Amino acid sequence: MNKHVLLFLSLCILPTTNLHADDGAFVGDAMRGKVIFENTCAYCHKLGEEKSTVGATSLNGVGQRRSDTWLDNWVKSPSDFAKVNVEAKRMTIGDDVIIIMPTLPQMQDDHKRLDVITYIKTL
Ligand code: HEC
Repeated sequence: MNKHVLLFLSLCILPTTNLHADDGAFVGDAMRGKVIFENTCAYCHKLGEEKSTVGATSLNGVGQRRSDTWLDNWVKSPSDFAKVNVEAKRMTIGDDVIIIMPTLPQMQDDHKRLDVITYIKTL
């Protein structure tokens, strides 16, 4: 095998052995996201049909209801997003709102946010 063939083959293998996508973009990981969810979100959000004691709804099926961009904006800062998005506004200042999701310091980290969103989309 000449060295050009070898170089070609190694380029084919590299992207699949790398956790990151070809362009170096960060890829969300549902297992890391699950840990973040349990530590940061589960106090308010129960899974399945169970409603939490603090009043937040289950996140089951949220990946079907919301786009990735919507989720990213909301999880980063519900109150900032509420200024520009009707649905977010309804969930933060509506008449029936009894608890507001806070802007969480942990969720200002783009990678952690992508991990947790990757996880909640599996629910
Ligand atoms: C202090 C309580 C609290 C915490 C902590 C919290 N949330 Fe929320 N979250 C809410 C409330 C209240 C809403 C408004 C809608 C509702 O009642 O579920 C909401 C709404 C959402 C929605 C939109 C649901 C929909 O139906 O469109 C998503 C997505 C969400 N939260 C994700 C998260 C994630 C991810 C975390 C952890 C990083 C988190 N939340 C932490 C209280 C909380």
